Formats: sequence, C-alpha cells, structure tokens
Amino acid sequence: MTHSDFNGFRLTTAISDPISVSWQSPSNIALVKYWGKTGLQLPVNPSLSMTLAKAYTQTKLTAMPRETEGGIELDFWFEGLQNVAFGQRISKFLNSVTDIFPWLVQVNLKIESQNTFPHSAGIASSASAFSALALCLCTLDADLFGIMLDENEFRAKASYIARLGSGSACRSLFPGFTVWGASKALSGSSNLFAVPVEEVHPVFETLCDTIILVNRKEKPVSSSEGHNRMVGHPFAEARIKQAKNNTTELLQALKSGDKQTFIRIVENEAFTLHSLMMTSEQGFMLMQPETVRIITRIQELRRETGLDICFTLDAGPNIHLLYFKEQFEQVNKLIVEDLVENNEQNMLIYDSFGFGPVKVG
Ligand code: DP6
Repeated sequence: MTHSDFNGFRLTTAISDPISVSWQSPSNIALVKYWGKTGLQLPVNPSLSMTLAKAYTQTKLTAMPRETEGGIELDFWFEGLQNVAFGQRISKFLNSVTDIFPWLVQVNLKIESQNTFPHSAGIASSASAFSALALCLCTLDADLFGIMLDENEFRAKASYIARLGSGSACRSLFPGFTVWGASKALSGSSNLFAVPVEEVHPVFETLCDTIILVNRKEKPVSSSEGHNRMVGHPFAEARIKQAKNNTTELLQALKSGDKQTFIRIVENEAFTLHSLMMTSEQGFMLMQPETVRIITRIQELRRETGLDICFTLDAGPNIHLLYFKEQFEQVNKLIVEDLVENNEQNMLIYDSFGFGPVKVG
C-alpha cells in the first residue's frame, strides 16, 4: 500500500449548505514506546499502547460553502476560544492531506474541539485530537462522495490519516490494545497504520491507569524534538531490537494473562525511553525529583505488598500508575496515603482500559 492509494476526490459542484460531523476519540498510553521516526511519519520501531476510556477529545468538523478555491481556510476553536497556535498545527496537517481530501481547499472549514482532561497533564492530547479529526475527515469524505468502506478499512484509513498528524494518534482508533509498526509477532501489523490486538486475556481488560501529576509546566523538549534526537543516537540499533523483542513478549503476555511479564516490560520501556533522552547527543531529562521519588516508591510498594502495580512514563515527568481493577481499593489507599503523601500538588486523574472512538454527530 502506498500514500497515493488513499488519494480522493474533488467536488464537481460546490456544496450549497454547511455539513458537519462529530467524533469523540480517546488518548492512549504507550506500553512499548514509539521513539524515533523516519520518512513520512514512519516509526523506527513497533509500539504497543492501551486506549484510555475517560481522556478524550470531542471534535466537530464543519465544511461550509466557499466561492473561490485556494489554500486551507480554517477557523479553529478549542474549548470555546480561538486557538491560534494549535490552529496553525492543524492547518499544516490539513495542507499535508489535500491529496487524500482534495475537497478541503474547495470549502471553508470550522473545527470546534474540547478535551475531557487538562492540558500538559501527562495525557497525549495530540493523540486524541488528531484521531478525532482524522475520523471526522474520513466520515465527511464518505458522506460527500458516497464512499462505502467496511469497518476495518475505515479504521485503517483513519489511522493512516491520524498518523500523519501525530504518530501516537494512529493507535487511538481502536479499543484496548493496539500495535503500530511492523512486528513479526502480529500479522497485518504495519508502519503505515495501527492495528488492534485481538488476542487479549480478560484480566488485561480490567487495567486501570491513574495519572499522578507532578508537574504541569510546558516540557523543555517536545516529543517531536525528542524523536529527532534519535537520529544518529549511539544506542539506536540496540533500541530498535529491544522494542521489537518487547513487543513480541508483551503480545504473548497479553494473550496468556501473564501479569509479571507485563510489569517487567512496561517498566523496562519507561526506563529505556528516559535513558534514550539522557544519552542522546544533546542529552536532556524530563523526569523530576518527584518523578524519581514516586517511581522508586512504586517499585518498593510492589515488593512490600505483592500488589500487581507498575508505572510507565510518557515524554514528561508525570507518572501513569497501572494496576488491575480487583485491587483498586488497596492501590488507591496506597496512592492517596503513601505515594502522593497528601500533597495537593500531586493531582490525580483516574482512567482505565477504553473501548475506542464514538461517532457523536
Ligand atoms: C513518548 O506521537 O507525540 O509518547 O509523531 O511527533 O506527534 P509526533 O510524536 P508523538 O510521540 C509520542 C512519544 C511517546 C511514546 C508513544 O506514545 O509511543
């Protein structure tokens, strides 16, 4: 499959009335990390994530009549306000998909978007935002031209488009666990779009993710810049091999219900991601003293209590604490009474295994 396989149609007659579509789409948390890219937003290694339930973006896309053709004409609103910075990123993305959706330059566009979670809170807002927008684009395209795709083709196309906006977004199109990047361990997996993991032991559908916020300041190095620092990284080759092996092992653990392997790989991936940042040529560190204190304590508590808890980190200082629903009461007591030490600054966000995007209009 190539990019041009997705090339779409121009309008032969201008639309006479506004036409809208709305989707809500969740964020996801990577368990095997995408870190490093090449070509047109292609990952250097496979990644595996869990789609979240409560952290999502709701996006309404409206196409309106337009008299003359030209570049993208976008009016972007985020949470009731015009947002210039994010609007520019979205315009750039829309310009990059005009071969797939040639009609984008024949209409005026309005995007209204809101999130269920706070900004800079350790939840990938680009994943939910670009997956919601990709779904809106594919639905509007299908409505305008009467395109009939089956559910799998539709999701694969939306995942492909979401990837062009933000790599991790392509994994948000599916319920539960998702792999993006070719892996020998999962047939049908691809660098171009993500695919759902079908064989999952029911215990992993009870996974909870409590995000412990230690800092909400803007990150000193963005993920996009972080990906760049993998170019020529001295450990790149070993990292790619490790990610492939971790994907294979984690898929097996998800299938068999092996919690201990899950815990080992998830923490190995979090530590690796942050080690790669520190050991890149222009090294940087996104963990904060409070991050180190809490992850150290999570490992101690696991040893002391025998509870099945582990952590992961994204490209930031905030901690995702993963555990199983049947241990919610005990784990929550530890979170509140021990891990955050009743420190008001450590805001908590409770999320869990989610069931994927929903069309809401
Ligand atoms: C550490 O998807 O935010 O969260 O493709 O440049 O938008 P862009 O990067 P992004 O990178 C995510 C990096 C990560 C790991 C992951 O989600 O797999």
